[in-house]
Amino acid sequence: NALDTEAEMYRPNFHFTPKVGWMNDPNGMFYYNGYYHLYYQHYPDGNKWGPMHWGHAISTDMVAWKEQPIALYPDEKGYIFSGSAVVDLENTSGFGIGGKVPIIAMFTYHNTDIKKAKGIDVESQAIAYSLDEGLTWTKYSGNPVIENPGIRNFRDPKVSWNKEQKKWIMVLAANDKVMFYGSKDLKSWELLSDFGGDWDRELGTHGGVWECPDLFPIPVEGSEETKWVLLVSINPGGPNGGSATQYFIGDFDGTKFIMDTEFEAVLNKGQNHWLDFGKDNYAGVSFSNVTSKDGGKFYMGWMSNWEYANKVPTETWRSAMTVAREIKMFKDDKSYRLASHPVDEIDAYKVGKYKKENIQVDGETALIKVEKVDLSRAAINFTISELKKDSFTFKLSNKVGDELSFGYDGTNNTYFLDRSKSGKTGFSTTFSNKRSTAERISSSKQLTGTLLLDKTSIELFYDDGSTVMTEIFFPNAPFETLSVASVSQDFILDNLEVNQLNR
Ligand code: FRU
Repeated sequence: NALDTEAEMYRPNFHFTPKVGWMNDPNGMFYYNGYYHLYYQHYPDGNKWGPMHWGHAISTDMVAWKEQPIALYPDEKGYIFSGSAVVDLENTSGFGIGGKVPIIAMFTYHNTDIKKAKGIDVESQAIAYSLDEGLTWTKYSGNPVIENPGIRNFRDPKVSWNKEQKKWIMVLAANDKVMFYGSKDLKSWELLSDFGGDWDRELGTHGGVWECPDLFPIPVEGSEETKWVLLVSINPGGPNGGSATQYFIGDFDGTKFIMDTEFEAVLNKGQNHWLDFGKDNYAGVSFSNVTSKDGGKFYMGWMSNWEYANKVPTETWRSAMTVAREIKMFKDDKSYRLASHPVDEIDAYKVGKYKKENIQVDGETALIKVEKVDLSRAAINFTISELKKDSFTFKLSNKVGDELSFGYDGTNNTYFLDRSKSGKTGFSTTFSNKRSTAERISSSKQLTGTLLLDKTSIELFYDDGSTVMTEIFFPNAPFETLSVASVSQDFILDNLEVNQLNR
C-alpha cells in the first residue's frame, strides 16, 4: 500500500508520532508510579487540525512511548484544547474515593457552536479526573470551572502545586498576556494577577497571540539560588518565522510574576530569550510531579510550526514531538539563561560507533557514511577547542542530491540551519525561503555541539544546550553522508563522537 510506504518512509525512529491522524501540542504531561504520561492535541479522524481530542501515550523513560486509547473526547461544551495534569497527592479535590490518588486534568473547552450563533468568546476552563493513574477520565459535572471573562483567546491552563502557599497555581494565555489563578481544590479558582499585555516598553515579543504558558521554579546551576521561569509560546512572531517559545526569568511571590531586573535589561537590549531558535519546536511545557536529580525540569515540544503544520508531506499521520529534554538554568556574566539537553534516559539506546580526534578539515571532508552509521538514528557530539573567526558548515547529503546544511558563521557569531535543498520543500512558501539563524549565547573559546538525527528531524544543542535549534525536513531518500567544510585553512574538529540510537 503506497500510503503505508509513505507513512513509514517519514515516520521517525525515536520521536513520538500518533499511529494515525493529526497531532499538535503536548498536553498534561506528568509522572506517577513508574510511568511518564504524554497527552496531546489530536484529531484521530483526519490528517489536518480538526475537533480536538486528547490522545495519550505512556513511557517508562520518556524515550519509548506506547500509544494508549484516546483520553478525552470533544463533547457538547466544545473541543478539548491544550492543558495540563497534576497528581493530587493529598486529594485536595476530593475526587479520590477509596484512598485512590486522583489525577486532575485541566483543559480549555473551545466551543465553535457558541461562536457561530453569537460570534463571541468561546473558550473556558474545565477539569476531568482519573482514578486509574491517567488511563481513563471522567469530566467534572460542574464544568466549566472558569467561565470566559470576555477574552477571545483564553486558554491552555498549566497547573502546579505551590509549596510555599500550599495551593494550586494556574497560568493561562489570554490574547497577548498570561493570567495567574490560584485554587485550594482545583475546582474554584481566583484570579491573582497577569503579566504581559499592553506593555509600554519593548519587552518580550507580541508578534502574535500568546499560547501554552508554563510557570515553574528551577535551581540556578552552581549556586543556592532558585529562580522562576515563565515559558510563553507565541504564534506568529518566532525568531525565524511562525511559531516559537520565548521565556522570562524572575520570581513568583505566590501572586505575581516579577521579572528579574538583569534579565529584563538583557531583553531591553533586544537579545534573545528563545528556548529554541529552530522553526519546529512549539507549545512545549514541563512534566509535572517530577524533576531531574539536579532539579531540572523535563520538557517536550511539538516539532512543527503553524506556518505549514497542516501541509507537511505525510498523509496517514502528521507531526512528531521533540525528544524529551531537561531544562536547566545557568547564569553568565549578563543574566540568567535556560539550557536544554536531551534527557539522560536516551543514553541507554546509544551504541558507540566511533570517536575521532583532531580531524583536519581540508575542503569538504566526509565524516560519517551510511555503511557505518545509519544517519536517520544517530547522536553525534563534536568539540572545537579553540574557536577563532572560523565558519564551518556540516552537510547531510544523499544520492539524489538533497542536502541539509548547518553550522556556524564566525563573522556574525550565529549558528545557522538551511533546509532549502533538503528534499520536499514546495508544500509551503515559508518552509525554507530563508535559512534559520541563532545568535551564539556562549562566549567560550570552546564550541560544543550535540546533534540528534532522525529520518525527518534534526535537533542541535550547542554549547551545553544554551543555543538550541530544532527543524524538520523531508528528503527524497535517506541521508547517507555527513561531511564538514570550512573556508579557514587550519580548521580542526577536535573531537567527534558518533553513536547509533537503537530504537
Ligand atoms: C497551540 C494551540 C493552543 C490551543 C491548541 C489547539 O498550538 O493553538 O493555544 O489550545 O493549539 O489545538
